[in-house]
Amino acid sequence: MNIEASAPGKCILFGEHAVVFGQPAVAVALEQRIHVSIQPIEAEEWTLEGNKFNPRKHPHLSTLRKLLWPTKDGAPALSIEIHGNIPRASGLGSSAALSVAASAALRAARGRWVIESEQGPVWTEGYSSEIEDTDAYTGLNSGIRTTMYHKKELHLFGNDALDLDECSIIGHAVEAAAQGGRASPMDASTCAHGGVILLSEQIESDNEYLYQRQLDMDDGKRTWELHELGVPKGGEEVYLVIGNTGVHAPTADQVAKVSKAIQDEPERMKEIETIGLIARRGIEALKNGDYEAVGRAMTENHVMLRGLGVSCHELDDLVRAAAPSSLGAKLTGAGGGGCMVALTRNPDITSEAIKTAGGKALVSKFGNEGMRLETPHCEPFWSPQIHPD
Ligand code: PMV
Repeated sequence: MNIEASAPGKCILFGEHAVVFGQPAVAVALEQRIHVSIQPIEAEEWTLEGNKFNPRKHPHLSTLRKLLWPTKDGAPALSIEIHGNIPRASGLGSSAALSVAASAALRAARGRWVIESEQGPVWTEGYSSEIEDTDAYTGLNSGIRTTMYHKKELHLFGNDALDLDECSIIGHAVEAAAQGGRASPMDASTCAHGGVILLSEQIESDNEYLYQRQLDMDDGKRTWELHELGVPKGGEEVYLVIGNTGVHAPTADQVAKVSKAIQDEPERMKEIETIGLIARRGIEALKNGDYEAVGRAMTENHVMLRGLGVSCHELDDLVRAAAPSSLGAKLTGAGGGGCMVALTRNPDITSEAIKTAGGKALVSKFGNEGMRLETPHCEPFWSPQIHPD
């Protein structure tokens, strides 16, 4: 008896760094995925890949346990197996994919209590952007919200118990907890919903709008509006080739570098605004299926990021190597190392060029599925007690 869920990695097509200052950014779900499989065991302690689970080494899983699998309420110990092909710690969303997939597996493993209403089943427990004071962020020590109705009528199983909004809200909360309270919701939402996700300070278009996310950070509250752009027109004709430099550069250092540059020379905010303009142009081109223009915007975005000081010679080498065979190329994510991405109609030639220049290459198409329950008809291992009124 096991329950398995998976979620894709992501890469940023436009707008990294500028998004921290409120400009729009676009992330794309990749073909590469992480799978999380869980199984109840008769033991005191959880195991991870056969070894004793160490919460300090795995902060994401440890926070998820608090949110969805409270041992104090009798949830049984679990054995967890993780496999997949998203390189770790290289800006491709491996930790968000892990969090989203594990949250889906745990939700399926407990099912969801609902009550019937004329509009269909209404949750009696869970996290949602519809619940104003959803406590995924604040309730990390208090366990899951079960106060909406205090009734249990119907227990939903398998896919019926799952909800993408919930997986992404939990994924975001878990990432924020693991990163000292600072995380944008871009990774968790892209890994949960798949496809192409647009994040902005304002609602860009009503029909693509998903939800708002807010997070209290030490320097104030952040608000993001998230949108789902769907599979871009003609997206099956082009490929993303990711080039990994293998150089490790923590995101926080890169973000601090940009923040200092703007503080020292406030007029450089113009560069951030220019990235926003380029991103908007790229988004329009993407919606129109004009991949030549998408590629041009990506390359311009790279030039701006270079100017901001977040590229490095390894990234520039891979971008240069990919250029002749691609429509455009840029660093993706925080920079300083990590990965670049090229948009191309010739994935084999672009991959070879990246490898020759010293990078590791991954190929992905557009339009990849988000979180998926690999055992869609599974039955819960455990169900929380909800005290009657
Ligand atoms: O390196 P990644 O994939 O975690 O991306 C960081 C993106 C930044 O814009 C640099 C930071 C952020 O929080 O959005």
